[in-house]
Amino acid sequence: MTGGISLGQTSPCVNVFAAGEAAAYKMFEVIEQKPKIDAYDDRGIVLEDIRDEIELKDVYFTYPARPEVQIFSGFTLHVLSGKTAALVGQRGSGKSNVMILKLEK
Ligand SMILES: Nc1ncnc2c1ncn2[C@@H]1O[C@H](COP(=O)(O)OP(=O)(O)OP(=O)(O)O)[C@@H](O)[C@H]1O
Ligand SMILES: [Mg+2]
Repeated sequence: MTGGISLGQTSPCVNVFAAGEAAAYKMFEVIEQKPKIDAYDDRGIVLEDIRDEIELKDVYFTYPARPEVQIFSGFTLHVLSGKTAALVGQRGSGKSNVMILKLEK
């Protein structure tokens, strides 16, 4: 009788197991995706020494596609070679653009 009661108590959990299985299926689908870019591919140009200073002096910058959005207005930054610096700012304030400007130089 005790066994029967215990079995009865498991029935509400069956739905939860089914929901978990469905969620896991979606998750494994994402994990098993093969990306077009292989992050572990070691072909291509390997830069030997990328030590350099970063210097931006009074930079004014907008994207041609969105001239109404001023990304930088008079932005100045100097990071010495070998030093670590952190750029802090709200989302969309232009932190990643600092690296793009540096790489395009
Ligand atoms: N290719 C592009 N064309 C037009 N506008 C762009 C382009 N790339 C970025 N932007 C705009 O430039 C601004 C700064 O973007 P950026 O990615 O440098 O910000 P961020 O500080 O790195 O933001 P996050 O904290 O989200 O990484 C944003 O308003 C963004 O929409
Ligand atoms: Mg960014």
